[in-house]
Amino acid sequence: MSKETRKKILVVGATGFVGPALVDEFSQAGYHVICGVRNLEAASQQLDFPNVEFIKVDMNEDLNPNTWLDRLKEHEIDGVINNVGIANAFGGQSLENVNVNAPLALFEAVSFYCQENKEANRHPQNVSVFQISTTGVNWDDCDAYKYPKSKKLIDESLVETQGINFIIIRPNIIYEPRRGHLLFEQIARLPVITYIGDGNIQPIHCRELAIGIVRLMNNPYKADGSILQATGPEVMTWKKVFITVCDALDREHGIFIRVPLLIGQLFTNLIQRLPEKVLFRLGILSKMDNDTIEMMTKGSVGDNREWLQKTSLKPIHVFDTYRSLAKSEEDYSNYIQSIRDTFIDHQEN
Ligand SMILES: NC(=O)c1ccc[n+]([C@@H]2O[C@H](COP(=O)([O-])OP(=O)(O)OC[C@H]3O[C@@H](n4cnc5c(N)ncnc54)[C@H](OP(=O)(O)O)[C@@H]3O)[C@@H](O)[C@H]2O)c1
Repeated sequence: MSKETRKKILVVGATGFVGPALVDEFSQAGYHVICGVRNLEAASQQLDFPNVEFIKVDMNEDLNPNTWLDRLKEHEIDGVINNVGIANAFGGQSLENVNVNAPLALFEAVSFYCQENKEANRHPQNVSVFQISTTGVNWDDCDAYKYPKSKKLIDESLVETQGINFIIIRPNIIYEPRRGHLLFEQIARLPVITYIGDGNIQPIHCRELAIGIVRLMNNPYKADGSILQATGPEVMTWKKVFITVCDALDREHGIFIRVPLLIGQLFTNLIQRLPEKVLFRLGILSKMDNDTIEMMTKGSVGDNREWLQKTSLKPIHVFDTYRSLAKSEEDYSNYIQSIRDTFIDHQEN
C-alpha cells in the first residue's frame, strides 16, 4: 500500500510511554502515522517504525486553531489522537495550555477542516478525534486535583464542540513490562515494598489500550460520541498487584509495609533524587509530585464493559502478562500477538 492510499493518523504526544505503543500498533495495522512531537530528532530515534513521519508541535504554545488547521490540511489527516497529558507542571509547562487550551484549538481545527472539506466536496469529511483522558475524572472530588480537573474540562469541551466525531478514552493505571512510569516487575523484586492505603485500581496493559484504540479507529462509527472506561479486567489493590506479579514470576514476595500518605510522599520525594540507574532498580521511571502520589494511591476504577464490547478485545491480565514473560521473550510476544488476533463478542448485558 502506498502512502497515498493509507489512512493518515495524527498522533499528538507520540513519544513518552503510551505514544510509542500507539504509533507501533497503528503502523502495524497499515496506517500512515504522523507523529506530533516536541523533539524531532529524539522522536525519530524512539519511533523507528514503518510508515511514520514527524511534525513539530508544542501543546504549551500551539493555541491557535489555524496552526492546527494548516497541519491537518497539509497532511490530509483522516483521524486524530490527542495522547498528550501532563500530571504536573514540571519543566515550566502550563498544565492549562497543554491539557486544555491546545487540545481545544486542535479540536476546533478538526471541526473547521471537516466543514471546509464538506463545502468543497473534498475528503475526508468525517475525522474521528480520540481524546486520551483518565478514570480520575470519575472521582467525586476530581476538581480538587489539577490533573483530572483539566482532563474533565477538555473532555466536556470536546463533547460540546460542534461538527466533530469523537471518542473519549479514560484509562486507569497503564502498565507494560520494562516500560512506563512504574515497573511492576522491578518493584515486585524489592525485599521491602511500601504501599499507601487499600484503594482499588484496575491496571490496563498498554498494548490492550493501543490495540483497542486501533480497532476503534478502524470502525469509529461503532463508538462515536462514547466515553469509554479503559480499565483492566481485575479490580486490585496495589498490594495485590505486586503479589500477583511475584506469583507470575514464581518469586517469593518481600515484606509489605503500609505507610501513611505523608511518609510515602516524603520517601518518594527523597528517592527521586537518586541516579536514574538506581531509580530503575526501584521501578520508578518518572518524576512525581505530591499530588501525583496521592492520586495514584487514592484508587480509581471504572466499568470496562463498553470498552470491551466496542473493541472486541480479549482483556490482558496482570498474571498472564508476567507469566508469559517469565517463560520467554517469545512466549510474551506470542501472548501479545494473540491479543491482536483475537476478537471476542462481548454480549451487552
Ligand atoms: N500512564 C498512565 O498510567 C495513565 C493513566 C491514565 C491516563 N493517562 C493519559 O494517557 C496519556 C499518555 O500518558 P503517558 O503515561 O504516556 O504520558 P507520558 O509518558 O508523560 O507522555 C506524555 C506525552 O505528552 C507529550 N508532551 C508533554 N508536553 C507536551 C507539549 N508541550 N507539547 C507536545 N507534547 C507534549 C510528551 O512528549 P515529550 O516526549 O516531548 O515529553 C509525551 O509524548 C496522557 O494523556 C495521560 O494523561 C496515562
